[in-house]
Amino acid sequence: MRLASLIPEDDSDHISFRHYGHTYCVGECIGKGGFGSVFSVLGKPQLVIKKIPIKTKRQLTLIQQEIELTRMHLDHPFIIRSFEEYYDTDNQTMYILYERIQGITLNTHIEQWASEPSDTARASRWHIARQVCCGMHYLHTQGFTHRDIKPHNIMIQEHPLHVKLIDFGLSQRSDANTGSSGSKTYNAPEKFDAKYPQTHAVDLWSLGCLLFHLFFCTTIFAHSKTKAFDKKNAPAIPNIYHRLHQHLNALIAESEPNTSQILPLIRALLHRDPEQRPSGHEAYEYLTVHAQDIAPVDHDCLHPSQSDGDTKH
Ligand SMILES: Nc1ncnc2c1ncn2[C@@H]1O[C@H](COP(=O)(O)OP(=O)(O)O)[C@@H](O)[C@H]1O
Ligand SMILES: [Mg+2]
Repeated sequence: MRLASLIPEDDSDHISFRHYGHTYCVGECIGKGGFGSVFSVLGKPQLVIKKIPIKTKRQLTLIQQEIELTRMHLDHPFIIRSFEEYYDTDNQTMYILYERIQGITLNTHIEQWASEPSDTARASRWHIARQVCCGMHYLHTQGFTHRDIKPHNIMIQEHPLHVKLIDFGLSQRSDANTGSSGSKTYNAPEKFDAKYPQTHAVDLWSLGCLLFHLFFCTTIFAHSKTKAFDKKNAPAIPNIYHRLHQHLNALIAESEPNTSQILPLIRALLHRDPEQRPSGHEAYEYLTVHAQDIAPVDHDCLHPSQSDGDTKH
């Protein structure tokens, strides 16, 4: 019996399943996102099951892509792995079995740091930033774009600190990168304005927004009192972009010690022209050089170039 024989109707609180000879019971709901709910799986190895109601054919295609990516194409310490899936056609619900990440999302960490600033948090930020760049660079070298990089889609395991990129539900092959899907305050301007093509660099823009959020505990749009890009208002994009950069330049001129080293990287990542943005590898290198005094390089953080392997099938 495999995952396919296990999921009864719609009672997700009381299901059990067999996977490679073991029976697992599904426990409580431990997370919810825009598309699905994630349930713990009791026992070992530590797994979770994500339950996603499928509403459209397009959504089913996207989910199938997520499964393919996380099970077959991506194999990296900073990227979530999935093991098996089952599509319940009667209830139009997809179930995906993933490794369990023992930790909380980066968003929750940022909320905690906002209320209790500490030196540990300061060092952790640099470690987290480096690991995100490392995972993202690997993804890009494998020919994929995440398209929804944000603190909610990054989980952090502690002791030792270890990042996992999750939620590949909107991911695409980098050579077929289209559409405006993603999250408002992390979306690159080219998603709404065809002046520049969409490439994997949409993730690099999101990385710039994420780093700002990580170091300032608020989004760049909130901090600069600027509205996020909007597909209904594409003509406003140059003006919004100009205001964001005015704001960044003013912050750089202030030279506040906690943020002065990260701001030039954020400004470079938030370049209007996708080709001018630093790659994940360049961002990683920048962070490594500038973090020496703040957060010495951790040994569990692989150098991005060490993990550029062939695509795994
Ligand atoms: N492998 C995992 N281990 C532990 N918690 C997880 C895991 N995957 C997701 N979660 C939790 O579930 C939430 C929603 O998961 P996500 O994959 O982002 O769903 P959605 O596609 O609906 O946004 C996450 O923010 C996180 O809190
Ligand atoms: Mg999500």
